[in-house]
Amino acid sequence: LIQPVVLSGGSGTRLWPLSREKYPKQLLPLIGDDSLLQATVRRVEGIAGVELAAPLVVCNEEYRFVIAEQLRLMGKPGTVVLEPAGRNTAPALTIAARAAMKNGADPVLLVMPADHVIVDTQAFQDVVRKGAALANDGVVVTFGITPDAPETGYGYIQSGESFGSDGAKRIARFVEKPNVETAQAYLDEGSYSWNSGLFMMRASVWLAALEACRPDIAAACETAWTQGSADGEFVRVGKDAFSQCPSDSIDYAVMERIAAGQNASLPVGVVIPLSAGWSDVGAWEALWNVLPKDAEGNVAQGDVLMQDSRNTLALSEGRLIACVGVDDLIVVETADAILVAHKNKTQDVKKIVDRLKSAG
Ligand code: GDD
Ligand code: MG
Repeated sequence: LIQPVVLSGGSGTRLWPLSREKYPKQLLPLIGDDSLLQATVRRVEGIAGVELAAPLVVCNEEYRFVIAEQLRLMGKPGTVVLEPAGRNTAPALTIAARAAMKNGADPVLLVMPADHVIVDTQAFQDVVRKGAALANDGVVVTFGITPDAPETGYGYIQSGESFGSDGAKRIARFVEKPNVETAQAYLDEGSYSWNSGLFMMRASVWLAALEACRPDIAAACETAWTQGSADGEFVRVGKDAFSQCPSDSIDYAVMERIAAGQNASLPVGVVIPLSAGWSDVGAWEALWNVLPKDAEGNVAQGDVLMQDSRNTLALSEGRLIACVGVDDLIVVETADAILVAHKNKTQDVKKIVDRLKSAG
C-alpha cells in the first residue's frame, strides 16, 4: 500500500503577484486546469500493480477549505492534516506518518511537494514503482535529478555503490543547500544529483529515523499528535505542542545524517535517477521553462497580444497586455498589481514581496 503525502506549506513568494499569502502558488492553476496540488494528487493515479490510499495533505489550517474543496472537485477526497503553524517539513512529515499509521497500518509514504511540475507522468510512475519495492523493505528512497547549474536552493546527493538491480545507488553523501562554489565542485565531480524533494519510506521507518536523529522534534510531534483530534476529513494536532516544536527540514534533520551513516540504527538511504521533466517552479523563469511556447518562445495566458517579441511570458487576469518589441520579459497582470521583470532576474521578485511585507 502506498500512502501519498502531499506537503503543502510554502507560500511561493517569488511567483508574486499571482501567488499570495492568501492563495499560494500550489493552489493556483498555473499549468492547465489543475492547480499544482491537484496535479500532484493526479500524478500518482494508476501506477500499475500499486494499491493507493486516499491522499493525505499536510497544510496550514488557514488553507483547509480551499484544499478540501480542490480535492473534492477532482473526486479525490482525502485527509487534510492541519498545522497551526509551519514548522518546516520534518514535523509536517511526522504528523503525516502518524495519521497514516492509524488502525495499525504501516504504509510506504510517497512524500511529494505540492508545488512541483513533472512533465512525464509515465517516467515518474516507473520510478515510484521501483522506489516502492525498496521502501517496503525498510530503505529510505530519494529521487535524483541530473543537475545543469550550481543551484544553491537544492540538496545534492552523491551516488555510491549500486543497490539492487533497478538502478538505485546507495547515498554516499547528502548536502542540503551548499554554497555556489561547493555546488559547482559537485557538478564538476560528476557523481552528484539534485534531490528532487520526493521521498519514499515506511511510516515507521521515518518515525524511527527522526527519533534517532532529532528526538526533540519527535517528542514535540508525539505530544502534538496525542493532543490532536479528528474532525471529519480534517485532522488537527495540539496547537501549543506543535507550535513549540523546533523547525527543521527532512533534509537537514534526517537525510544528511542517514547519508553520513552517523548512527548504526539509521536506515539505508538510496537514490534513484528521475528523468521526467521535473521542475520546482520556484520562480517565473522556471514556469516559462516548463510551459508550452509558441514559435517565438512566448507564453501568453489570458488577454495578451505579442508583437515582435520573443521568449516572453505574459499572463493577464483581466486587462489586455500588449508587448511590442521586447525580449525575455515576464509581465503579470492581476487586479491590484502588475509585475514587469527581466526573465533572468525573477529570483528577485522575492525582494519586492519582502519590501511590501515590511511596509505593512
Ligand atoms: N505542510 C507543510 N508544512 N509543508 C511545508 C512546510 C511546512 O511547514 N514547509 C515547506 N513545506 C512544503 C513546501 O510547500 C514544498 O512543497 C515542500 O514542502 C518542500 O519545501 P521547500 O521549502 O520548498 O523546500 P526547498 O525547495 O527549499 O528544498 C527541498 O526541495 C528541493 C527540491 O525542490 C529540499 O528537499 C531540497 O533538498 C530539494 O533539492
Ligand atoms: Mg521548494
